[in-house]
Amino acid sequence: MGTVILGTGSCLPERVVTNHDLAEIVETNDEWIRTRTGIKTRRIAAAGEETYRLAARAAEQALAMAGVAAADLDLIVVGTITSHMLMPSTACFVQKEIGATKAFAFDLNAACPGFLYGLDVADQYVRADPSRKILVIGAETLSTRTNWEDRNTCVLFGDGAGAAVVGGGPQGRGMVGSVLCSDGRLWSLLHMHAPVSNNADLEEPDHPGVHIIMEGREVFKYAVKAMETSISDLLHREGVSLDEIDLFIPHQANIRILNKLVERIGIPLEKVFINVEKYGNTSAASIPIALDEANRGGRLKPGNKLLICSFGGGFTWGASLINW
Ligand code: UT7
Repeated sequence: MGTVILGTGSCLPERVVTNHDLAEIVETNDEWIRTRTGIKTRRIAAAGEETYRLAARAAEQALAMAGVAAADLDLIVVGTITSHMLMPSTACFVQKEIGATKAFAFDLNAACPGFLYGLDVADQYVRADPSRKILVIGAETLSTRTNWEDRNTCVLFGDGAGAAVVGGGPQGRGMVGSVLCSDGRLWSLLHMHAPVSNNADLEEPDHPGVHIIMEGREVFKYAVKAMETSISDLLHREGVSLDEIDLFIPHQANIRILNKLVERIGIPLEKVFINVEKYGNTSAASIPIALDEANRGGRLKPGNKLLICSFGGGFTWGASLINW
């Protein structure tokens, strides 16, 4: 049996924030943001659009497409770095929202590749028991963890959620495999502090606040190289050539990173799914939102070979290959 994606869903906050809107709060302009990042708009959450609520709405869509009842789910895994609370997990909140009473639920912190890591976890559980039904979600409200006075970062991020229902399917279909990597030595280039410690002995001097801090230029260089290597390692291991790939969904962080990656691996642009201009970088939600848009937009046909890849804080990165 294979581990197949039975349904996908996504949910974006209502509010659209343009580059012109941002130019009113920091020293920036539409031209700089568009040419350096490719981003034109992003969605920003309002009251009632907490991470778990966006996640639950995306999950309901994915369940409806899959024809799976929430009560039949065995596991919920949520990739997120912007959980509504530190405890319980976003996954437990989603469980409550959708009524997945039988499932156990946990969050997974792998930054932007959180959905890829989650898909790999689900793959292992389904390989062990193909009757299992698993909900994998990537959901973020990065707006809650953005320094809105830092023009280097606040123009880049957006909020949203994407979900997939995963279960057993015919042999030869579904997950082929993943290459997942981390390098904690490079943590400082992209990180977010925890809330201030209540233990005076463990207090960090000069706590900068709970928001994303990034050395953009360094991250850019590593991201391109790391994603390129994970893709070539994966394709080599699985004996699949790049020509066989029907659709490539990379992490939507920056159009220049995407273009550089596409140029280095040598895949035609028409096979690459891009929506960064609409939503900015939504971290763990980026791949499942794009996957849902590609799926509902008819870009994926049974038997297609789908390649996905991501890179984020940790550093964490990886690539997965799926026979749709
Ligand atoms: O999802 C996790 C992965 N994260 C990423 O993939 C992000 C990777 N990095 C990037 O996407 C890019 O490095 C950025 C978009 C963040 C920045 O682009 P860059 O071409 O690397 O610009 P830079 O940081 O080298 O800055 C160039 C100039 C600087 O001014 P000076 O020092 O040359 O005078 C910045 O202060 O642009 C300035 N700048 C801005 N100007 C207008 C930085 N942010 C802005 C801004 N508006 N928002």
